[in-house]
Amino acid sequence: MIATFKCSSAKLSQLPDDGLPEIAFIGRSNVGKSSLINMITGKTGLAKVSATPGKTRLVNHFLIDHNWYLVDLPGYGYARVSKTDKAKFAKIIIDYVLHAPQMHYLFVLVDSRLEPQKIDLEFITMLGENRVPFGIIFTKSDKQSADKTASNIARFSRVMSETWEELPPMFTTSSEKKQGGQEVVEFVKKLLLL
Ligand code: GTP
Ligand code: MG
Repeated sequence: MIATFKCSSAKLSQLPDDGLPEIAFIGRSNVGKSSLINMITGKTGLAKVSATPGKTRLVNHFLIDHNWYLVDLPGYGYARVSKTDKAKFAKIIIDYVLHAPQMHYLFVLVDSRLEPQKIDLEFITMLGENRVPFGIIFTKSDKQSADKTASNIARFSRVMSETWEELPPMFTTSSEKKQGGQEVVEFVKKLLLL
């Protein structure tokens, strides 16, 4: 896989205009979006990673194999951001996921260690209401046993089943252990007919 940084955008008018399809990663601050991009591309340091939440502030495009983009988005749910309903998801995030013309598919990253979080469920509900195509990636699976990961995913699925007729595609990854990335890439390639 050839991966190169293309550009950072603060608003939709700054996105690439070459018509290539975009696959984006979204999720709570610190869930591991940027780390997953580095793991998948095999390029440590391609996307900026930090132990402090709120590291990624702009929409970052990485060109993959000259024909599609992986997109790193800022996180949501960062505690220091105002929690009023209006500001819960930053404007750039909403603008991008609802209106970016080339966004073909969104992966919502969810921390595999946690019980279902209200903020993730609210974000997913918003995607459903707006018919945004998405899958879920459970991150940081190296942080606990495989059994614990499986039971957390089962619990998340049960909660989603209360409101969704069909569950989205789900993946499990560890950027630390370099696991699960290939499955995500295979899924994307099928989706984009590559
Ligand atoms: P923001 O840009 O702030 O929204 O965060 P992000 O979602 O891009 O998270 P980032 O990739 O910067 O990772 C946050 C922290 O989690 C860093 O300290 C990473 O090293 C760590 N981390 C990310 N993925 C994994 C993983 O799979 N396993 C472990 N153990 N740590 C991880
Ligand atoms: Mg980031």
